[in-house]
Amino acid sequence: MTKPYVYITRKLDETTLTPLKEVAHIDMWTSEDEPCPREELEKQAAQADGLLTMLSDQVDEALLSNAPNLKVVANLAVGYDNIDLKAAKKHGITVCHTPDVLTESTADLAFALLMASARRIVEASDWIKDGNWTGWGPLLLAGADVHHKTLGIVGMGSIGTALAKRAKGFDMNVLYHNRSRKPKAEAQLGVTYAAFDELLTQSDFIVCLTPLTPETKEMFNKKAFEQMKNTAYFINVSRGQTVDEDALYDAVTTGKIAGAGLDVFSREPVSPDHPLTTLPNVTVLPHIGSASVETRKNMMHLCAENIALVLQDQQAKTPVQA
Ligand code: GLV
Ligand code: GLV
Repeated sequence: MTKPYVYITRKLDETTLTPLKEVAHIDMWTSEDEPCPREELEKQAAQADGLLTMLSDQVDEALLSNAPNLKVVANLAVGYDNIDLKAAKKHGITVCHTPDVLTESTADLAFALLMASARRIVEASDWIKDGNWTGWGPLLLAGADVHHKTLGIVGMGSIGTALAKRAKGFDMNVLYHNRSRKPKAEAQLGVTYAAFDELLTQSDFIVCLTPLTPETKEMFNKKAFEQMKNTAYFINVSRGQTVDEDALYDAVTTGKIAGAGLDVFSREPVSPDHPLTTLPNVTVLPHIGSASVETRKNMMHLCAENIALVLQDQQAKTPVQA
C-alpha cells in the first residue's frame, strides 16, 4: 500500500516531523519566510491526503473543493480564521490547531509588549542607536508605570488567564471581558468581569486576545478608542482585523490614547510605510506572539502528530472544536 502524501506549506525543522514521516510521504515548500504561492498550494491540495498550513495560507472553499483526497488540515497556530470551517466540514476534512503548547510563550510576549510600550523600551533603544544620547535627563524617555495599574483583558481564554497571572505579580488590578464568565479565574486570580464599555473606560492597559470572528471584527473602533483614558495603551496580540486601524491611528496621533503595542495587523506583512509603523508611541512586532524556538518546535510537532493520527483513522489530539 502506498503511503499517504502530506504537503507542508513552509520549510519546517525536519526533526519535529518524525511522527509524520513514519506514516506519510512528505514534501515542503522551499522557503522558511516566503509563503507558498496560491497556485502551488492549489496544485498540492489537489493531490494531498494532509496539509500542514500556516496562518498566512487561505484554506477556503475553492481550495478544499478541489482536494479529493484531503482528510486533514493542521494549522500551525491556535487561531484558525484563515480556514473555512464550514467548507472543511462539508468535505469531511478534520481541522487541527495548536492550543495549549503556545499559551505561556504568547502570554510572555503580550506582557513584554505591554511593558515595552509603557516604558518606551524600543523607542529608547532606537534613540541610542540613532546617536541621540548626549546626557542623562530627569524626564528623558520617561514612560508610564505598569505596577498597581489596571489591566483590561479582552478575550479571557487560556492566554488571557496566563497574562492575568503575570499581571498579578506586578500588583495590577485585572479586569476581563469575555463571552462567558470565568468563575475559576475570578476565584483563583482575583480578576473581575467587566462589560466591554466599563473595561475600556477603567483600564490603563487594554490587551486584545480575542479570536477573530464576525462578532469581534473591528470591535476596537472609533467609539472604543474614544472611551479609553487618554493615558491608556492598547496592546494587540490576537488578529489585526479586530481593530479599525484608521481609528487607532487617529486615536494615537490626536492624544485620545497614549500609545499602542501591535504584534498583528489587518494585512500582513505590514509595510514600513503603513502609518501606524511610523509613530514613536506605537511599538510594532511581526506577529511573533508564540515565537520562542521551543514553542514553535512544539507547535510543529503537534501538527505532525495530529496529521499522523487522522491519517491512521484515529482521533486527532487537538482538533478545532467548532
Ligand atoms: C498566532 O497568532 C496563532 O494563532 O497561533
Ligand atoms: C537611576 O538609575 C537612579 O539611580 O535613580
